[in-house]
Amino acid sequence: MSTPGKFITLEGVDGAGKSTHLDFVADWLRAQSREVVVTREPGGTPLGETLRELLLHRDMDADTELLLMFAARQQHLAALIRPALARGAWVVSDRFTDASYAYQCGGRGIAAERVAALEAWVQRGFAPDLTLLFDVSPELAEARRAAARTADRFEREADSFFSRVRNAYLDRARAEPARIRVLDARQGIAALQVEIAALLQELG
Ligand code: TYD
Repeated sequence: MSTPGKFITLEGVDGAGKSTHLDFVADWLRAQSREVVVTREPGGTPLGETLRELLLHRDMDADTELLLMFAARQQHLAALIRPALARGAWVVSDRFTDASYAYQCGGRGIAAERVAALEAWVQRGFAPDLTLLFDVSPELAEARRAAARTADRFEREADSFFSRVRNAYLDRARAEPARIRVLDARQGIAALQVEIAALLQELG
């Protein structure tokens, strides 16, 4: 039987630049002869991608948003993440549950206990092996978002929303420093890639 693969997630406020580094992580792992599955949340499965469309573009109650995030996550775990890890693939996901704590708790003000209850139900103790948190000030993130394409429902939020999201991410990193590694996303791409490669190397 093959050794189970590892699960790596990338996080940060919209505009932190994490999506740029997703390909680097996947390519680095492939160069180590790993089978790599690249995915994202919300999304990652046909049903999850349908839920993503609703989440990014339809107005809804904050608890509805949280529940749909976890509905998509349950499907993602059952249909893609767990089977891939079981066959020995490494899974790299653009966002996972830390985003629910950051956006739905930090950003929208939902109590952390609600997210923790859903996390326990859906994940049953499962967690990423490594989380790369791309940290950047709300001002710089805003400037990067402004240069990008049309904004979705989250990207249209005010700077104060992203400040709360950022702080919630940093609180998570302080609580779980071994798993969540904070990267200073003001740095250039090359400097960040050196740091990312070192963290991947540590993972074995
Ligand atoms: P994002 O990952 O930023 O994709 P893109 O780079 O294509 O815009 O978009 C996903 C959005 O979903 C992002 O604004 C954060 C939000 N989100 C949550 O609010 N909670 C969650 O649990 C997850 C996974 C994402």
